[in-house]
Amino acid sequence: MHLFLISLHIVNNKIIVNMRSSRAIIHLDNLAYNYNNLRKKAGNRPVMCVVKADAYGHGMVKCVEKFESLVNPPEYYGVALTEEAVELRKSGVTSRPILIFGPFDSDDITTYHEDDLTPTITDVSNIKFLSDYSGKVLKVHINIDTGMGRLGISYLKAFEMISKLSENKNVQIDGIYTHLACSDEHDKSYTKLQLMRFGTIVEKLKKHKIKYGIAHAANSGGVIDHPDSYFDMIRPGISLYGYYPSNDTGESVSLKPVMELRARISSVKEIPTGESVSYGRKYIANKPIISGTVAFGYADGYNRLLTNNARAKIGNKIVKQIGRVTMDRIMFDVSEIDTPVGQEIVLMGYSGEFRFTAEEWANICGTIPYEITCNISRRVPREYIG
Ligand SMILES: Cc1ncc(COP(=O)(O)O)c(C=O)c1O
Repeated sequence: MHLFLISLHIVNNKIIVNMRSSRAIIHLDNLAYNYNNLRKKAGNRPVMCVVKADAYGHGMVKCVEKFESLVNPPEYYGVALTEEAVELRKSGVTSRPILIFGPFDSDDITTYHEDDLTPTITDVSNIKFLSDYSGKVLKVHINIDTGMGRLGISYLKAFEMISKLSENKNVQIDGIYTHLACSDEHDKSYTKLQLMRFGTIVEKLKKHKIKYGIAHAANSGGVIDHPDSYFDMIRPGISLYGYYPSNDTGESVSLKPVMELRARISSVKEIPTGESVSYGRKYIANKPIISGTVAFGYADGYNRLLTNNARAKIGNKIVKQIGRVTMDRIMFDVSEIDTPVGQEIVLMGYSGEFRFTAEEWANICGTIPYEITCNISRRVPREYIG
């Protein structure tokens, strides 16, 4: 007899029984471990934890609750959108500054004030708008584009623009920052150039006694490989969740993956020699096998490119994924497993010799761990441990 774990979820005030038992286990102790190691690495400087995109798929509110419970909680949080910042405020984070990386939007000024949010000035037109602004004091950070080429005021105009904005006493420049485009690459030269451009502006502002608050530049690649990017605060994202930003960075900070994916074998089927499994017949049995299905598919974030390439673990045994990944289901060769139905299967995780994390998925899919964890969809219940 098999014991099925049934989890309960509240959706729109109704209790839903999750018969699939597919879930993402979020190891909050690992989150704290990564955070503390990153903080130590940067000489105990203030930290802005980047929790945008629902903490890279891990659940922003729960992750922030964990950060807030630590002895040295982060000094700032960083998100991409005003909505994310509002959600974080609503969840009870009342005392910490929340920086919105996305472009300043004059339509959101009331929200910035009401929720005490810090927008980013990303464009000369924002400076023009705010130079004439005369409401309640608005705290802002200024993004200086030193070579990312996405958002920010060109480093060539930044000093002039910051000087101009600093004349408006209704705007408080709480910080200036830049974003590094290549901090996770072997070749360090472009990052050095970006840091030189940024550092020159910081020095010039100091020399002219223009108040700019704090200066920050270090994303995960910066924290790990570029101590000269630390300035007054570090700003890591992916490394908090246990991943190096690329295969090229060093591993000078010890990290543990935070997300683990578990499910159960829900049914089995005998596949005779020569018969196939799933759409497109991408797997044909060359001997009789037992195929086990798992309620997890690409709609849950199990990338279709994992087809015939992924592994998973049942008990102490490694099993191979077979046949095309479908929207709601994947199949594994469970021939070696005794009484497979109901057995728990680890789809992503690590224990002992078994290491099949978002990094391994990313390598197979030709992407980065960021995309893998962000894509674990809302359909997959999160279970928080630690
Ligand atoms: C402005 C900004 N700062 C920091 C980060 C964190 O970067 P990472 O996840 O590589 O540490 C991001 C993420 O993309 C970002 O957009």
